Amino acid sequence: MRANQLEEYYTFLRFPSISTDRDYADKVAECAHWLVEKLSGIGLETKLVPTPGHPVVWARNEHRSNRRTVMIYGHYDVQPPDPLDLWESPPFEPVLKNGYVFARGATDNKGQIISHIFGIQEALERDGDLPVNVDLVIEGEEEIGSSNLGNFLSQNREALKCDVVVVSDTGMIAPGTPTISYALRGVAALELKVTGPKIDLHSGIYGGAVANPLAAMAKLLASLHDSDGRVAVAGFYDDVKPLEDWEREMWHKLPVDGDAVVLGESGSPELFGEKGYTTLERIWARPTAEINGMGGGYQGQGTKTVLPSYAAAKLTFRLVPNQDGKKVVDLARKHLEKQRPPGVTLEMTSGHAGPWYFTDPHSKFGEAAQRALRKAFDKETALIREGGSIPIVSQFRDILGVETLLIGLALSDCRAHSPNENFPLENLDAGIRMNQAVLQEVSAMS
Ligand code: BES
Ligand code: MN
Repeated sequence: MRANQLEEYYTFLRFPSISTDRDYADKVAECAHWLVEKLSGIGLETKLVPTPGHPVVWARNEHRSNRRTVMIYGHYDVQPPDPLDLWESPPFEPVLKNGYVFARGATDNKGQIISHIFGIQEALERDGDLPVNVDLVIEGEEEIGSSNLGNFLSQNREALKCDVVVVSDTGMIAPGTPTISYALRGVAALELKVTGPKIDLHSGIYGGAVANPLAAMAKLLASLHDSDGRVAVAGFYDDVKPLEDWEREMWHKLPVDGDAVVLGESGSPELFGEKGYTTLERIWARPTAEINGMGGGYQGQGTKTVLPSYAAAKLTFRLVPNQDGKKVVDLARKHLEKQRPPGVTLEMTSGHAGPWYFTDPHSKFGEAAQRALRKAFDKETALIREGGSIPIVSQFRDILGVETLLIGLALSDCRAHSPNENFPLENLDAGIRMNQAVLQEVSAMS
C-alpha cells in the first residue's frame, strides 16, 4: 500500500460524518465535499447531489456503449461513536496498531468504500481506462435508513442504468476468506411512549393509587417474546420462508464456528435464541424483535422516590424473506395495544424501514464475482446470508432492475457500531485487488 493512501484514508476517517445527529450536518457535508475532490482528482466526472437530507456523491468514468456498466455503492456516513469513554483512542483520530486502523467508520463503510476508490485510481493510472463503465454512488444516509436515496435513483434512472451493483458493506466469514452475502435482513422501527401522570410524582404520596408507566412498559416489552426466545406477536412468523436444506448444509460446511465467534465477540455470558436453529441460522435467516433502548424516571446518581410520568422505548424488527415490514409493524402495534396494562396510555410511532434482500449467488454475475474473489484472495468463496441491513439494496432491484453483489470486507471483530471499530490494512489491500478483479471479470463475462 502506498503511504499517501493511508494518509487519505485517515483524512476520510477524521470527518465525524454522523448522519443521525443534526449537530454534525456540516461535518457530514464537509466529508461529502472531500470525497468529491478526491474522486474528481482521480479523473472521474463527479457531482455532489443535494437531497432533503445529506448529499449523495456520484462519480463516473467516461461511459462507452460497447461495455458493461457497474455501479459501486457505499456510504460515507457513520454511526455515533458513543459510548465515548470506552474508546482506547479518540474515534475521529485514526491510529494504526498492529496492522489495524482504529476509528469510527474504519470498516463501516469508509475503509471498504475507499478500497474501491483506490482500486479504480490505480487502474486508471496504470491503464488509462477501466474495463467497464463505472458509477460510484456514495451516500450520507445509510445509517439512518437511506430515505432520500430512492428518489435519487428514480430521478436519475436512465443515467444510472447498469448491469449490476457492487457493494462492500457486508462481512467476511473469516480473515482471508472471500465472502459473498446473497441475502440481507430487512429492518422496521417502532417507538413506544407509555404515559401515566401528567408530571413525575412523589412515589409515597401517589404510589399504589395510579399506574407506574415504567412498570407498564416493562410488561409490554416482556410480552414481545416467549421464554424460548421466540417472538410472541401473533402472526409474526406467518410469512417467513423456511430455511432450505441446501443452505443449512452449506453453512454447516463453512470454515467458521458460529457459536465460538458470537460468544467471543459479544462477550455475553451465554448464547440465547430461538430453539431449533443454530447461532448462524438465527442471525442470518430468522426474524427478531429487538429493544434498542428504553428510558423514563430517575436515572441519575443515588435514589429518588418518584413515580415517573412516562416511559419510552425504541424497537426494531429484523425481517427475513417473505415478511413485509409494514405488516409486521401493524401486527406489533395490535399486539402491544392488546397487552397495554390498565392506567396508562400508549402512543406508537413508526420509524424507518428497509426490506430484506435475497439473490442468487449462482447467477452469471454471482459466478463472475466468485471468479474475481478467487483471483483476489486465492481461496474459495464462502456463500452466506447477513443479519444486518442495507436498506437501499432492494430498491436497486425495484427501481433500476438490477441485482447486487454483496462482497464485504468487514471482519467479525471489526466492532462496527461499537467502541474501537477497526479495519486491517490487509483488507484495504484486498479490497483494492478485489475491486480490480471484479471489474475485470464483469467485463470479460460472456
Ligand atoms: N454495514 C451495515 C450493514 C451490515 C451489518 C451488513 C452487518 C452486514 C453485516 C450497515 O451500515 C448498517 O449498519 N445498516 C443498518 C441499517 C439500519 C440503520 C436501517 C443496520 O443494519 O442496522
Ligand atoms: Mn455500513
